[in-house]
Amino acid sequence: MTWTMRPAPPTSSRAVLALAVAAVAALAVVAGTGRGARAQGSVEFEREVWPILQAKCVTCHGPEDQFSNLRLDSKERILRGGKNGKIVVPGDPAKSPMYVRVSLPSDDLDIMPAEGEPLNAAQVDILRRWVAEGAEFGSWTGVGG
Ligand code: HEC
Repeated sequence: MTWTMRPAPPTSSRAVLALAVAAVAALAVVAGTGRGARAQGSVEFEREVWPILQAKCVTCHGPEDQFSNLRLDSKERILRGGKNGKIVVPGDPAKSPMYVRVSLPSDDLDIMPAEGEPLNAAQVDILRRWVAEGAEFGSWTGVGG
């Protein structure tokens, strides 16, 4: 009895140690991947989204014109939305008119911009990811007066 018990403690503590090392390594990998993915994947509003709005939307949704009572030139106004309500549901692009309307087929009457070239695939994807990631503005608060 005793001879079979004696080798057991060292074996099992080695096993526990090995498991602990593996767990720590796995956590480190997960944490590292998470950080990397966020840093690479996150859309920066001011650097990536705002230039699209400025070039494609603000002529009709800014200081000059406010079609549908919608302005896209400040954080507050974007969050307020238009005459039909919110245009951004953070985390849910499919429920966010600001994304849905730019992603429509080019012959759809509801597509935005209402005139001119539709957004290209990369621009549509930036808006989709920005909403999906929580529609954060960073330090940007707006430009329009
Ligand atoms: C040439 C003018 C024009 C441009 C440019 C334009 N829009 Fe519009 N937008 C309109 C008009 C007109 C309406 C109201 C009619 C409608 O809902 O289709 C509207 C409505 C909207 C609505 C619905 C708001 C509500 O409450 O009903 C959204 C969202 C929107 N636009 C987003 C955008 C985005 C995003 C861009 C840029 C990619 C853009 N628009 C560019 C003219 C424009």
